[in-house]
Amino acid sequence: MPLDIVVGTQWGDEGKGRVVDLLSAGVDFVARFNGGDNAGHTVTVGDKTFKLHLVPSGIIHPHTIGAIGNGVVVNPAILLQEMEMLRAAGVTVSPARLVISHAAHLITPGHIALDKALEGQRGQGKIGTTLRGIGPAYTEKVARSGLRAGGMLQPERFGQAMRQHIERVNHTLRHLYQAEPLDSERIAQEFTEYAHLLKGYIGDVSLLLTHAMNRGQRVLAEGAQGTLLDLDHGTYPFVTSSNPTTPGALLGLGLGVNWVERVIGVTKAFQTRVGEGPFPSELNGDEAARLRGTGDKPWDEFGVTTGRPRRVGWLDSVLLRYAARVNGLTELVVTKLDVLSGLAALKICVAYRADGQELRELPFGPAELGQFEPIYLELPGWSQDVMDVRRWEDLPEQARAYVLQVEDLCAVPVRMVSVGPERDQVIEIG
Ligand code: GDP
Ligand code: IMO
Ligand code: MG
Repeated sequence: MPLDIVVGTQWGDEGKGRVVDLLSAGVDFVARFNGGDNAGHTVTVGDKTFKLHLVPSGIIHPHTIGAIGNGVVVNPAILLQEMEMLRAAGVTVSPARLVISHAAHLITPGHIALDKALEGQRGQGKIGTTLRGIGPAYTEKVARSGLRAGGMLQPERFGQAMRQHIERVNHTLRHLYQAEPLDSERIAQEFTEYAHLLKGYIGDVSLLLTHAMNRGQRVLAEGAQGTLLDLDHGTYPFVTSSNPTTPGALLGLGLGVNWVERVIGVTKAFQTRVGEGPFPSELNGDEAARLRGTGDKPWDEFGVTTGRPRRVGWLDSVLLRYAARVNGLTELVVTKLDVLSGLAALKICVAYRADGQELRELPFGPAELGQFEPIYLELPGWSQDVMDVRRWEDLPEQARAYVLQVEDLCAVPVRMVSVGPERDQVIEIG
């Protein structure tokens, strides 16, 4: 079958961008299916590092066509900036190489102002969103009052719709949040210009991809965020407002289930999270500082989109098994194995203790994780740097044992291990 899906299995930032870049070598289309510029996907090619928020990570390969599906929320200002950044780096970005679904919803300054106002009002109970307007844009989509990319095909009429939208938002900002209103005239003009610049890129992604697959071409679906941030299956309410899981790929691209071949779950060799919410295997103090890094290395655990230090902890195999279940994973890619080098002992959370009971499965999904105490399996570490290793048999025995333990605990084969951010820093297994 011609469709492979890449999903994050944790709370995002698993290294999906680098995995999508790798797999893009063998496909014709790469399509983002959920989220917006809350995502930050890093692709390193030689001396160039690309930080992508909206454009699919496969675009760096000159032979691919990128698609942004109906499940994505698009901030046109950010998209245009990203297109310019790519062009400046020598990547061709044209309507022949990038297609935006007519049914993708747009993020406006109104949504961003509402995201800030809502987070401010939540106070201590805040979600810790990226403040990119994601929640309010999806809220309007569900309320059936959103603006869709297809509207940009008629720029002048679109400008009017924008003005009305900002005036509606201003009413809420003033009366509900006592916040400053936005300049609807200026924003309407700005968005009319964006419409002129982007209208050539609007298309029907579902039709485009289905025709391509009928012709025998291959498609890679690129998820943003991760399973535990899924609106339905994540640590609600500390989640994003979209579905980063397998069904989100089909829904967010308009594709049938019968096309799917592989569902590739990307998992970091340890666990990280940005923003608020439960995290049973979280570490603090020196152990956390060791896993996070200080920020001197490009892959240290600081957010690509917000720069916030990420919370870090031991790998949680109960949650990974859960991700395997809700996504129907056919295989795993383990990233950042190199970061564990030099640790004397490693831990993997294999169960929880709650009310004197040992739990190997989540009784009510990840939203109820708060009171759970992790039960760990301890494994020996390895001292050798593995960033230059390219063959499975050349990994230290303890590193192989760690990967095989992960595979065993979640009953999904590990097909690839990544030992650095560069294209060639991977070990294929089997
Ligand atoms: P994404 O959101 O899932 O695409 O992941 P991010 O790009 O936010 O974060 C992953 C970070 O780890 C980026 O800086 C990558 O370049 C880096 N990275 C990916 N895989 C590896 C790896 O195997 N080893 C190391 N050291 N860094 C990696
Ligand atoms: P990638 O694709 C990590 C988190 C935010 C916050 C919650 C809700 O790079 O893996 P939102 O702005 O979406 O309403 O915020 O979701 N979050 C991410 N965390 N990686 C991401 O994307 C994320 N996108 C959103 O930190 O906790
Ligand atoms: Mg990221």
